[in-house]
Amino acid sequence: MLVEIVSDYEAMSERAAEIVTHQIRKKPDSVIGFATGSTPLGLYQRLAQNHQARGLDFSKITTFNLDEYVGLPPSHNQSYHYFMWTNLFDHINVDPSKVHIPQGMADDIDDFCQWYERRIEQAGGLDLQILGIGANGHIAFNEPGSSLGSRTRIKTLTEETTQNNARFFDDPDEVPRYAITMGVGTIMAAKTVLLLSSGESKANAIRATLEGPITAMVPATIVQLHQRAYVIIDEAAASKLEYRHHHGIIEPKQQNP
Ligand code: F6R
Repeated sequence: MLVEIVSDYEAMSERAAEIVTHQIRKKPDSVIGFATGSTPLGLYQRLAQNHQARGLDFSKITTFNLDEYVGLPPSHNQSYHYFMWTNLFDHINVDPSKVHIPQGMADDIDDFCQWYERRIEQAGGLDLQILGIGANGHIAFNEPGSSLGSRTRIKTLTEETTQNNARFFDDPDEVPRYAITMGVGTIMAAKTVLLLSSGESKANAIRATLEGPITAMVPATIVQLHQRAYVIIDEAAASKLEYRHHHGIIEPKQQNP
């Protein structure tokens, strides 16, 4: 694990953009796993700028998103399809035929999940998977207790997530109860993982992830076993690390995926 502690959200986004940009320049047909949520927004803005101002070419990349709500059409403004197109894909020259986001409206979800795993494999596997982390240590929709070997499948959302989401929906019946998510095993098969985290609210999860025992109760702890994991966090997210000082003396800029 290469842990880099940077000053704040902007610095985290900047460093993440350097890593993703380097990956695409090094391998223009990279297979990249994307995350949604507030954490990668600054990264996505920078990637769009790198395309528009510096000609970074996304036309050959293949993308796979981590997750999607079951029952929301892609046009719904709370769907992860909508999030990805409005926040990134509409602003870069990605080839729409190479974009994969789980289909929350699939007729046969189990079939779809198996197809998604096969597609990742046929594409040559994920070169780089971008990850955020939940305050409870979840990655994608793998909540505490998820199998550390799991593959893409349907998961029931926790009561907490469902309640949190309710405010975004006019009709309570519309609030998703299930999601399709890459499994922990799917994520771990990526050649490189890039875990991003910012803010005090993630400090406990980051401490457990980097310094705690590996456990399904904190699914993100599995990154300790990954051969090529970059963890870019800001000071606030790092504030509860016991070995914070040690991470500060490593010179990480020498290395890129
Ligand atoms: C998003 C995802 C989630 C988020 C996590 C953090 O595709 O899979 O695991 O990465 O919930 O969310 P934010 O970034 O909003 O704090």
